[in-house]
Amino acid sequence: MAGKISKIVVLTGAGISAESGIPTFRSSDGLWENEPVEAVATPEGFENDPKRVITFYNERRAAAQKCEPNAAHHALAKLEEKFGDNFLLITQNVDDLHQRAGNKRIIPMHGELLKVRCLGSEEHIISCTENQPEKCLECGAIMRPHIVWFGEVPFEMDRIQKALMQCDLFAYIGTSGVVYPAAGFRQIAKLSGARVVCLNLEEVGGGYTDEFIQGKASETVPKWVDFTIFNS
Ligand code: OAD
Repeated sequence: MAGKISKIVVLTGAGISAESGIPTFRSSDGLWENEPVEAVATPEGFENDPKRVITFYNERRAAAQKCEPNAAHHALAKLEEKFGDNFLLITQNVDDLHQRAGNKRIIPMHGELLKVRCLGSEEHIISCTENQPEKCLECGAIMRPHIVWFGEVPFEMDRIQKALMQCDLFAYIGTSGVVYPAAGFRQIAKLSGARVVCLNLEEVGGGYTDEFIQGKASETVPKWVDFTIFNS
């Protein structure tokens, strides 16, 4: 590894939670947990049939809470412990497995299953561990899952952009790298001078990547974290 690392940004996707029992997204039939993606993961789907969407996320919420963080999540918590404010975890996952493993410097850019928000005010965001309330207790407006759907802008993009431009190591783990803007992060990091590493079961991404580490996240991530700490 060339030079010492001072700032690390890690991007994770569904692959890091797969071994904890949460299915990944991409399937050849365009379905997510037996539902068409456009029915449950778009603003139009919610407008057409809010009950169907709410039920879908209630089920995801219940299922995710039965899962536990795996060795890859725990390794990233260890990496944050070592690097402190020089570490940032960006996740596309809406489960809370990173948070339960101990990561605090985290941006859940696609939202969080365990939160719901009100359509009346963006500020009315509440935590929700069971079935979501249909109406906001503060203003009575309709509540929706705090999830970024297709066609919506992910959270905290300015902060993410800045961190990508300042890091000297960027790793993307367990993500197919096809959904933008996250799919473009490796390019921003690479063009800003970072070393870019991909950890995945299969080769993804293509360009702007210096190193590819193939295997299950629960095996590759702890080794990569130990190597990174050793070389820092
Ligand atoms: P995908 O389902 O597209 O990709 C999962 C990736 O994880 C694939 O590249 C797999 O090869 C890899 N993978 C699977 N099991 C693995 C394991 N045990 N170890 C390592 N890698 C493994 O999921 P994402 O890339 O996260 O967006 O999908 C991105 C976004 O698309 C999601 O956040 C979601 C979805 O539509 C929204 O909901 C807005």
